[in-house]
Amino acid sequence: MNIILIGTQGCGKGTQAIKLSEYFNIPTITMGEVLREEIEKGTALGKLAASYMNKGMLVPDDLVGSIIRKKLQRDEYGLGVILDGYPRNIVQAEEFDTYFQPDYAILLEISDEEAIKRVTGRRVCLKCGENFHTLYRPSKEPGRCDRCGTKLKVREDSTPEVVKTRLEVYHLQTEPLIGFYEKKGVFIRIDGERSISEVYEDIISKIKEHELRHQKTKQEVEIMAQGGARLAKVLARLRGIAKPGAETAELERRAQEWLKELGAEPAFLNYRAGRSGSPYPCSVCVSLNQEIVHGLSVPSRVLKSGDLVSLDFGAKYKGLYTDMAITFYLGRAPKEVKRLIKITYDSLRRAIRVVRPGNNLSDIGKTIESCVAKHKLGIVRDLVGHGVGYAVHEPPRVPNYDDPTLAKIPLEPGMCLAIEPMLTLGDFKIKTLEDGWTVVTKDGSLSAHAEVTVAVTEKGHRILTPFID
Ligand code: MF3
Ligand code: CO
Repeated sequence: MNIILIGTQGCGKGTQAIKLSEYFNIPTITMGEVLREEIEKGTALGKLAASYMNKGMLVPDDLVGSIIRKKLQRDEYGLGVILDGYPRNIVQAEEFDTYFQPDYAILLEISDEEAIKRVTGRRVCLKCGENFHTLYRPSKEPGRCDRCGTKLKVREDSTPEVVKTRLEVYHLQTEPLIGFYEKKGVFIRIDGERSISEVYEDIISKIKEHELRHQKTKQEVEIMAQGGARLAKVLARLRGIAKPGAETAELERRAQEWLKELGAEPAFLNYRAGRSGSPYPCSVCVSLNQEIVHGLSVPSRVLKSGDLVSLDFGAKYKGLYTDMAITFYLGRAPKEVKRLIKITYDSLRRAIRVVRPGNNLSDIGKTIESCVAKHKLGIVRDLVGHGVGYAVHEPPRVPNYDDPTLAKIPLEPGMCLAIEPMLTLGDFKIKTLEDGWTVVTKDGSLSAHAEVTVAVTEKGHRILTPFID
């Protein structure tokens, strides 16, 4: 679970970050603290940051970006994080989006007057560190610390002038993040002018509501099943011509032609993901050998005997999307490759079996992980399954490993999920090639990928993209 908190000074981001961090059991990163830490540790990045701050200048976006990137690489943030104070503008958000996708971007909205009232009333005792507020937590004797009697001070960042300037910057630079995250379908607006517990309860209930928004009606699931059947049919035919000597561009041509014959459209063609600047140029992803996903079906790529081939294919039918993938070997597969393919499918089938109301989202990844555990295979972590239907990718994330934070999301009828284990014969680490799309194993080991779209039903589940074998 990744959450970004947005709001002016005084909106309660810090307080809510702590509460959410307890609720979801994931750490918080406060941008201001990260900068301070980096400077205190005297790292190269920290020194550079300090050189700007000492001159009273803003730390440039790319520098803040590098610092946060370094921080997020640490394992403790692998299961999710709550971010307070980053990103602060569109430039930061766009760069951030190339490697970090929030599940929620939550705005704690308060008026400028309220922000000024909240922040300028803050008082601090510089001797013992006690905090007061002229309105909300007044000291017994005005202007004096209750604990040590020292004269209370207004912190440098709490004077009316500073608060007003910051509000201006906020409206100009940070507010556009609303549109940015709205487009990604992860934005939540919260009225922040209420008590801490009211705001907190509202955040939790909006998050739950948000997950449910993606539930499809019975009619929509029906349409997705029709679309999925068409998708599977075309994919089966593609499988039939994916023989040694076949050009991937031929698969691409046929994919488009056959989908069209069945009244469906390709879902991936021109798809834009945060990870890449350019749209995906094909309808079918052909990923060979060490390529995990998003390989290109372009001319000059020719299948050959001994290739481990994965075809990943999506369709839009009557406005709704389905997504599936298969992996097979051209020729007689070596034993370990056979096993890799088998376990990829086994783990997928086992995971599908736990899809039913009463179970929760973490059960899927948990099942895949436990299924793979006894075999020496890597489970790709940086790519995950996903909700599907109104878009190719929609919340929630469906990782192929156990993510305990997802235990809070129940599986409920109408949720449609693309479950897609990606396993390797080596390490789980990945990298993206120069083309901006093809994802390969970092260690060059072979990888397999199988995917279906499945709907949660009242009784259990329904596979919307039938297996083809
Ligand atoms: N099944 C693929 C996935 O879930 C769909 C990729 S869309 C593409 O990642 F445009 F990136 F190919
Ligand atoms: Co997918």
